[in-house]
Amino acid sequence: MEDVVLWTGAGQIGMAIARRIGFDKKIVVGDKKIENARAISKIMEEAGFDIISVETDISSRESILNLIEECQKYGEITTFINAAGVSPSQASIEEILKVDLYGTAVLLEEVGKVIAAGGAGVTISSQSGHRMPQLGKEIDEQLAAAPTEELLDLEVLQPENIKDTLHAYQMAKRCNEKRVMFEAVRWGEKDARINSISPGIIVTPVAELLLLPKGAFITGSDFLLDGGATASYFYGPLQPEEE
Ligand SMILES: NC(=O)c1ccc[n+]([C@@H]2O[C@H](COP(=O)([O-])OP(=O)(O)OC[C@H]3O[C@@H](n4cnc5c(N)ncnc54)[C@H](O)[C@@H]3O)[C@@H](O)[C@H]2O)c1
Repeated sequence: MEDVVLWTGAGQIGMAIARRIGFDKKIVVGDKKIENARAISKIMEEAGFDIISVETDISSRESILNLIEECQKYGEITTFINAAGVSPSQASIEEILKVDLYGTAVLLEEVGKVIAAGGAGVTISSQSGHRMPQLGKEIDEQLAAAPTEELLDLEVLQPENIKDTLHAYQMAKRCNEKRVMFEAVRWGEKDARINSISPGIIVTPVAELLLLPKGAFITGSDFLLDGGATASYFYGPLQPEEE
């Protein structure tokens, strides 16, 4: 049996990470647009990687379980990369919450149940989540720990409380960060690690560190890697004018 990489979201960020850590493993890439997964698989196969693609919708638990089952045909899942997502310019509020927030939470939960001892995962959050003010202890706790099937019913995520698609995206990414902390405890019980990165630009060397044994002391953390843009947004020239 082989070490398996479960990878969702066949975009450029996911591929850049998979290329750095997937060379000695079976890679299973899931994407809602199977043509994206196939196109990326072809590029990676031609570069010598062992990869298959599976149609997967991360906003469906059933589809996630099917992807996990496909992975387990080849061996144990030792590495997890979640780079699936929709952006504020691509999708509705509802879809952003269903994919980026709920879908990521279900993935972390379900992959956490089967991740191999010593395994590691990374999910791609965004600098956007860092641009929102703090939400307070109670909401943080709900985003971190509410049962996945109750997440979308939280009051803070109801239509009257979400301004626009950017706000939905920021809430999703904030939830990713909190969920990673919550799940890190559960993954830790299995001797596995889970972290997130919040990129402004592509930052593959850090994702590589998080997935390899040399990052063994790092779990439950989010890494903001945006060239200082968020610092400037709060305290520098990028600060928006007061309304
Ligand atoms: N590109 C950036 O500058 C940037 C910056 C910060 C964060 N991010 C985050 O990184 C992640 C990947 O971004 P990207 O730029 O590589 O995006 P991308 O659009 O190139 O790739 C994302 C992939 O996810 C797939 N996808 C969408 N909905 C899905 C679903 N329900 N189930 C399965 N697959 C689905 C898409 O089909 C696509 O192939 C996203 O979470 C995004 O929010 C991107």
